[in-house]
Amino acid sequence: MINIPKGTKDMLPADSHKWHAVEAVARSVARRYNVKQIRTPVFESAELYLRSIGDETDIVNKEMYIFEDKRGRRLALRPEGTAGVVRSFVENNLGETLPLKVYYIESLYRYEQPQAGRYREHHQFGAEFFGSPLPSFDIEIISMAHDFLREIGFDGDGLTLELNTIGCPTCRAEYNKALRKFLADNTDKLCDDCKRRAATNPLRALDCKVKSCREVYKSAPSIRDHLCDDCKAHHKAVTDGLDAAGISYTETPDLVRGLDYYTRTVFEFVRGGLTLLGGGRYDGLCESLGGKPTPCVGFGCGLERLIDGAEKNGIAFERPAPDVYVAAQCDGARGECARIVRELRGGGLAAETDIMGKSLKAQFKYADRQGYKYVITLGESELESGVYTAKRMADGATYEIRKTDVLGDVRRII
Ligand code: HAM
Repeated sequence: MINIPKGTKDMLPADSHKWHAVEAVARSVARRYNVKQIRTPVFESAELYLRSIGDETDIVNKEMYIFEDKRGRRLALRPEGTAGVVRSFVENNLGETLPLKVYYIESLYRYEQPQAGRYREHHQFGAEFFGSPLPSFDIEIISMAHDFLREIGFDGDGLTLELNTIGCPTCRAEYNKALRKFLADNTDKLCDDCKRRAATNPLRALDCKVKSCREVYKSAPSIRDHLCDDCKAHHKAVTDGLDAAGISYTETPDLVRGLDYYTRTVFEFVRGGLTLLGGGRYDGLCESLGGKPTPCVGFGCGLERLIDGAEKNGIAFERPAPDVYVAAQCDGARGECARIVRELRGGGLAAETDIMGKSLKAQFKYADRQGYKYVITLGESELESGVYTAKRMADGATYEIRKTDVLGDVRRII
């Protein structure tokens, strides 16, 4: 037997309704925010991720699936969605009418150590908005993320919106100086990766997962003490807007997010120690990928974590019941059963008849297990009279169905 690769999961038929329910909420929220879908390839040039996520991040440095194709091109399975969307925005000149708002539901690949909520293949519902530097843009994306989580069923209980600003390149330069000095003063307590990051990209040292480093960073200087006036004003306007929208948040000065492209606002919706959804502003990314300077905001929500978290929170995903099972009492009825099923399906109903040669008893058992709402049984007398009986499985109530208008009669009772 060949097993599934480590850190991946099958979506099994018994769980498919949960994914459909989550995706339906995602598409519905996107429609109401007038956000259009985008699909980009599952692999891109590896260089795209190096330049956008950053070569000192764990995602690029340790977790990327990189391979060469037959012509020696360096490609990578996408570890996140933003870079590919921005590549497409620039390449297809999508910035002619702004704002442009897009969403995606896609699979992502990171070579992580599998554990609860951490997979090598996961799925995200993400959104990216292009075109405005205004705080209203940050508020709009946070509001969309918030609506999505609320409509899934997370009603504030144990769900926290952590919010921070990590400044712009101007204030970041000042902050980097302070952080470099701090890292140099503590260099003997740092892991080798952090010693290197101190020189190459000091902010990334702050995402280090090594326990002793984490201890040291508790007293690291805060970006919040190095913000320029514009970044302070932007952040104040974002928090005022969230207050006005009734979206509560926790100011989290040590939230930096693990990707290099962010500027100013960063946020995460956290539940039970796991981040369900993360995002922020990235004003410099379009330009660094060869496009016109275009301010952007976005988020990504991990759907495996969302579904697990929802179930732990007692949120039930409804499994839609199929409509009508048509049971054959004798072999002579099977042809008419098949005709009825075709008629019902043509009218948009979920209908089935036996294709396994099962006995009547076994057909009823199957219909019951599948959760059919109605069962129509056809034997010799029904074939003769052209009048059938539909039984409602929930309470045994029966209804007359005429051969001449099966679809119409069934629609009336459903
Ligand atoms: P991220 O924080 O790396 O951000 O991932 C977003 C979410 O995806 C996480 O909060 C988590 O729920 C889920 N996730 C990440 N890695 C895994 C994993 N290994 N297994 C299961 N779930 C995972 C981004 O990817 C950014 N592109 C978000 C963004 C969009 N920022 C701006 N626009």
